[in-house]
Amino acid sequence: MNVWSLTQGVIRRRLASRYNRTMNVTHANFAGLDLLASAVLLIDAEQQIRYINAAGENLLAVSSRAAIGKPLAAICTCSTTLQSALDNGLNNNWGYTGQNIEVCRQDGEILNLNCTVTPLRPDIAAGMRLLLELQPIEHHLAATREERLIEQQQASRELIRNLAHEIKNPLGGIRGAAQLLEHELASPSQKEYTQVIIKEADRLQDLMQRLLTPHRAMLPATVNIHEILERVRSLLRAEFPGSLAVHRDYDTSLPELIGDREQLIQAVLNVARNAAQAMGGDGEIILRTRSLRQVTLAKKRYRLAIELKVIDNGPGIPDAIRERMFYPLVSGRDGGNGLGLTIAQNFIQHHHGTIDCASRPGNTVFTMRLPVEHG
Ligand SMILES: Nc1ncnc2c1ncn2[C@@H]1O[C@H](COP(=O)(O)OP(=O)(O)OP(=O)(O)O)[C@@H](O)[C@H]1O
Ligand SMILES: [Mg+2]
Repeated sequence: MNVWSLTQGVIRRRLASRYNRTMNVTHANFAGLDLLASAVLLIDAEQQIRYINAAGENLLAVSSRAAIGKPLAAICTCSTTLQSALDNGLNNNWGYTGQNIEVCRQDGEILNLNCTVTPLRPDIAAGMRLLLELQPIEHHLAATREERLIEQQQASRELIRNLAHEIKNPLGGIRGAAQLLEHELASPSQKEYTQVIIKEADRLQDLMQRLLTPHRAMLPATVNIHEILERVRSLLRAEFPGSLAVHRDYDTSLPELIGDREQLIQAVLNVARNAAQAMGGDGEIILRTRSLRQVTLAKKRYRLAIELKVIDNGPGIPDAIRERMFYPLVSGRDGGNGLGLTIAQNFIQHHHGTIDCASRPGNTVFTMRLPVEHG
């Protein structure tokens, strides 16, 4: 048993015994629960919320005033596993602990959680029947996934760089030879062939150049994340003038960060442009910013970070490429080079940040986390 499950157990037992003994439960009784990092909800026999602590409000993005008295289903959609655990808790008095359970918030965000359902004695005051604890695991999962991805990508990037080098050099020769040949040719119809060689050589050269991009040295300066997002927003609106809606959901209290403005614009634009392309320019994109305190990004702990989400309601990442979408040359659309996400990830990594994605049809969320200050 690890420390986490031990702590969970202790909290659960304490809470359960405390509520089972409590005859006169008022909101004031729960003041201490607001200090817990886990989300705690108390639910009655009708599966209505009778109490939600501060961590619960944060996690489910709902105020206690809006949640209390409402059915749980009104503030989030539980997976069938969790729903049957709640039913079993009420009907059969069964407890439940599950890991990596999906819960969809009212705003469409999908959470991966560790969940515990503890039945409370039916005779306790105020009719509370279930204690529901929720603990987000997405950060931990994302960090592990990110680490694995970075290792795999470093290897494949190396391979592609070497390959691109080998292709680029003879390409120059092929193009030059085609030009010389063109001067020797008299017939315009024959020149068409040399033109094809030259154009295709140029196209390949351009692709190799993008693959090899040494990414000019970072030019760190103080940047305002919302200024970057506004720029991305106007570029998107210019590129997709039709019925693409780009909504802002900014936390305007965020501090500025140290970074390379152009790289950050490019990274966010690549992600947002993919969303617009996937929706054929017709759909909704939300640009959301929030602050994160005491986070670990790429194995380093930061006091403060900025979380930036690009959310779209398009078809979702095709299953066939979901695991590999950050790899170079992996594309799921006609005419795609498969470089946009690789470049975005590179730039975010230059800023000591992370980029991750959760996607299902109708809801794709790319999350970028950037430390506000790094050494
Ligand atoms: N928001 C999204 N919704 C659906 N699919 C997406 C989304 N973002 C990325 N994808 C998928 O991931 C693939 C890889 O994206 P990436 O930006 O790396 O390459 P690309 O868009 O195909 O080409 P490039 O960006 O180099 O022009 C896309 O082709 C698309 O299939
Ligand atoms: Mg792209």
